[in-house]
Amino acid sequence: MSKLSSFNNGVKTEGFESFDDCSIYKLNDKQSIIQSVDFFTPIVDDPYLFGQIAATNSLSDIYAMGGNPLFALNIVGFPSEKISLDILSTILQGGIDKCNEAKIPILGGHSIKDDVPKYGLAVTGIIDNDKILRNNTAQKSDDLILTKPIGSGILTTAIKKNLTNDLINEEVIKVMNTLNDKTCNILKKYQVNACTDITGFGLLGHLNEMCIGSNVSAKVNFKDVPLISDTIKFAKDGIIPGGTKNNLKFIENNILFSNSIKIYKKLILSDAQTSGGLLIACPKKETESLLKDLNSNSDFKSVIIGEFIQKEKNNILVNNE
Ligand code: CO
Repeated sequence: MSKLSSFNNGVKTEGFESFDDCSIYKLNDKQSIIQSVDFFTPIVDDPYLFGQIAATNSLSDIYAMGGNPLFALNIVGFPSEKISLDILSTILQGGIDKCNEAKIPILGGHSIKDDVPKYGLAVTGIIDNDKILRNNTAQKSDDLILTKPIGSGILTTAIKKNLTNDLINEEVIKVMNTLNDKTCNILKKYQVNACTDITGFGLLGHLNEMCIGSNVSAKVNFKDVPLISDTIKFAKDGIIPGGTKNNLKFIENNILFSNSIKIYKKLILSDAQTSGGLLIACPKKETESLLKDLNSNSDFKSVIIGEFIQKEKNNILVNNE
């Protein structure tokens, strides 16, 4: 989610100071409404898959906070003079089917004429006040767990350049098209300290926010970070989206990279993700059972990629061990 989501009209709201994934509105002593909104231009050619992926991505912020989505509204931009409306129906069907999978209705929405197609959802969810999973409450010595492989920004760029094969395309789409709902439900059973989802700012960008908000630093081992097939190959070949390069520039000064971390590895860790996995701060005593639970209920392997440590000058230390 963009930090712009934190801007308001001067009314004090919870969630304003931190970089939390959703806006939070306290209903009463027991429950809060959580609200997210996200939309973007097509990242794949297939309109149905685009609709599904955009919806999955929009729902992700609700799950990252441990919430239950209630309903969604469509946000659509479409060049109806240039592209057939059948294509738009197919995009919307992708969104509907993904919301059915998440067991929520799409209650309406708004569309405008636009030069480039855009699609996404505003999602409203609900959460118990004492169960809100924030991204600014990681504790030192927590394990850092990642639930999906990264590299979707680099890989979708490679797909657009026709550099991939069907097998890899399927793999990338599966990563972007898988809801974080099961992961979220499992997290609720454990005493995890903090959570966020990996999207546009990349692994290091979202981890940096967690560290700043939680007043801790983090160590990441590059070797342990799960990658989508051929991410390294394409990164070495310079197939890097602009957003990923900007992400690295933006956070570079907060990060200490060991000498063995070459530029392509820095870029992979900064790669802008669509609908990425959850990044979890988990107390060491909980890790083993949490991982077991996650890994018997997901197609992706959740792994420890580092740990939180006492606050240091650099927010993140990356090594190659
Ligand atoms: Co988010």
